[in-house]
Amino acid sequence: MIPGDARQSLPAWAGQADAWFLDGFAPAKNPELWDPALLAEVARRTAPGGTFATYTAAGHVRRALAAAGFAVARLPGYGRKRHMTAGRLS
Ligand SMILES: C[S@@+](CC[C@H](N)C(=O)[O-])C[C@H]1O[C@@H](n2cnc3c(N)ncnc32)[C@H](O)[C@@H]1O
Repeated sequence: MIPGDARQSLPAWAGQADAWFLDGFAPAKNPELWDPALLAEVARRTAPGGTFATYTAAGHVRRALAAAGFAVARLPGYGRKRHMTAGRLS
């Protein structure tokens, strides 16, 4: 975990993650965590070949992650979620 508000703490983080679980509240309720600029910061801090997964399948989130450099796939979801999204830095 990287403590603090991700909009400040992620750009200031010097590390590289092998895998992310993007688990903000729903994009409609918590848009700041799904902002394209922040998702680009996620990609910049991902090790080569690193991955992400998230419960959301919102189209604008998938597009932002693809624009950030991930190969993005919409996959079958679980529980009440029909779809989820996962990807690998390409
Ligand atoms: C669905 S919960 C997931 C919590 C965590 N994954 C867990 O299992 O305990 C969404 C989390 O996003 C956090 N959050 C919302 N906006 C944030 C922001 N700008 N920066 C960092 N965390 C944020 C909330 O505080 C909340 O803990």
